[in-house]
Amino acid sequence: MAGFSRRAQLPPFLALLLLPLGTVGLLSLTASVLEVDLTVLQSATKRGAVCLDGSPPAYHFSGGFGSGEGSWLVHIEGGGWCHNVTNCLSRMKGKLGSSRAMGAVRFSGILNDHGELNPYFYNWNKVKVGYCDGSSFTGDVDRVDPATNLHYRGARIFDAVMEDLLAKGMKNATNALLSGCSAGGLTSVLHCDRFRALLPADARVKCLTDGGYFVNAKDISGIEYVRAYFNSIVETHGSAKNLPPSCTLRMSPGMCFFPQYVAPRILTPLFILNAAYDSWQIRNILVPLPSDREGTWKDCRADITKCNTKQIEGMQVFRQEFLKDLGRTIASDPSNGFFINSCFAHCQTELTATWKFSNSPVLGNTTVAEAVGLWFYDLRDFKEIDCPYPCDSSCYNNKYESQDGLEDNDIP
Ligand SMILES: *[C@@H]1O[C@H](CO)[C@@H](O)[C@H](O)[C@H]1NC(C)=O
Ligand SMILES: *[C@@H]1O[C@H](CO)[C@@H](O)[C@H](O)[C@H]1NC(C)=O
Ligand SMILES: *[C@@H]1O[C@H](CO)[C@@H](O)[C@H](O)[C@H]1NC(C)=O
Repeated sequence: MAGFSRRAQLPPFLALLLLPLGTVGLLSLTASVLEVDLTVLQSATKRGAVCLDGSPPAYHFSGGFGSGEGSWLVHIEGGGWCHNVTNCLSRMKGKLGSSRAMGAVRFSGILNDHGELNPYFYNWNKVKVGYCDGSSFTGDVDRVDPATNLHYRGARIFDAVMEDLLAKGMKNATNALLSGCSAGGLTSVLHCDRFRALLPADARVKCLTDGGYFVNAKDISGIEYVRAYFNSIVETHGSAKNLPPSCTLRMSPGMCFFPQYVAPRILTPLFILNAAYDSWQIRNILVPLPSDREGTWKDCRADITKCNTKQIEGMQVFRQEFLKDLGRTIASDPSNGFFINSCFAHCQTELTATWKFSNSPVLGNTTVAEAVGLWFYDLRDFKEIDCPYPCDSSCYNNKYESQDGLEDNDIP
C-alpha cells in the first residue's frame, strides 16, 4: 500500500500542546502522524453515486499489516448536514459537498497506526470515508435540478464505497468495525445492519457511534427544533427509503433519523460513545441560536465552565432526557456497550488526546480506546455512565471547539 500514505510532522502548535502532556516515549511517537492521500472513486459516477456537486465520492485508505491484515475499520467523516436548497448550495463547493475540495488527511486517534496510542486497531486496514452528501449517506433523489446542479445521492455513495472496499479485500474480513463521528456517527447507526450484511457470517462485525447519538429533545424555548430540522433533511434528500425499515414501518421517516428510535432494533452490536453534555447537542438541540435571541447563553454555549446555576440546571435536565432515551437502546441488547462521560465534548475517537493519551478522558480509569477495544473483542462488557457535571476531572477541555463542518446549523 506504499504510495497511499506518508509521514507528516505535526504542526508546531500541536507539538507544543503535547509537550507537557506526554512522556518522552509518547512524544517521539506523536511527532509523526500518518498522512493519507485521497482515493477518488471515479467509477461510482456511472451509477450516479456522487457528491452534492456531482463529483465522484472519495475516501482515504491505509492498508493493514501483520495480524491486522484481515481486519477492517471503516470510519465515516462527520460535518453536520444540509437541509434545504440554500443550505446545500452553500456547502456544495467545499469539501463537505465536493471531492474536488478534499485532500490528504492525518490519521490520528482510532485511525492512528501506533500500537501504543491505538492498541486494538493500529494495524487494521483503515478507511476514512469523505462526507460530501450532507445527509449522513441516506439521500437518493434521481432528479437533478439543472438550475442548481445539486445531487442528493448519499445512500448511493455508501453502497459504491462499500462495494469498492469489499473488492479490495473487505469481503474476506475476519473483523470489521463501522465507526464515525457526529453526522458520521449517525451514519454508522443508520447503516449498521446493512454493513453487517455485507460481511462474512462468521466475521466479528460491530458498529461504533461517536458523538452521533442525537436526541429528540425540545429546546429551551419549548420548541421541537431538532425534530423539524431532521425532518427537513430527510425530505430534502429523499432519505425515507434508505432509513432502517424496522423504524420506518412504525414511525414517520423524519423520526427515523434519530438513533433512539432506530438503535433498539439494530441487530448488530453497537457501542455508543457520547458525552452527556455533547457540545454540539447543547448548542444546536438544547440552545439553538434562535432560542437565545438575547444572547444570555452565549458564553455558556462556548464553555461549560461559564454557565450559571440555572443554565447548568437546564443541562442536567437535558442529560436526564439523553439518558432516558439511551436507556431504551441499552436495554435492547446485552451486546451493546456505552461510554457516557460528563464532558462538554463532541467526538472523542478522532484525536489522540481524547482517544488514548496520558491525560485522555477516562471512565473508571479506562480510556475510550481501551473501552472500545475491550468491548469489540468481547474481552469485557463496557457500560459506564459518569456522575453528573462537574464530577469528571478527566475531560480534555470543556470548551466548544469549532471543527471543519461542525458549525452550528442555521435554521430559524
Ligand atoms: C477472498 O479469499 C479468497 C480465498 O482465499 C480469494 O480467492 C479471494 O480473492 C479473496 N477476495 C478478496 C476480495 O480479497
Ligand atoms: C483508578 O486507579 C487508581 C490508582 O491506580 C485507584 O486508586 C482507583 O481505585 C481506580 N479507580 C477505579 C474506579 O478503578
Ligand atoms: C433554508 O433554510 C434557511 C435557514 O436555515 C433559510 O434562510 C432559507 O430561506 C431556506 N431556503 C429554502 C429554499 O427554503
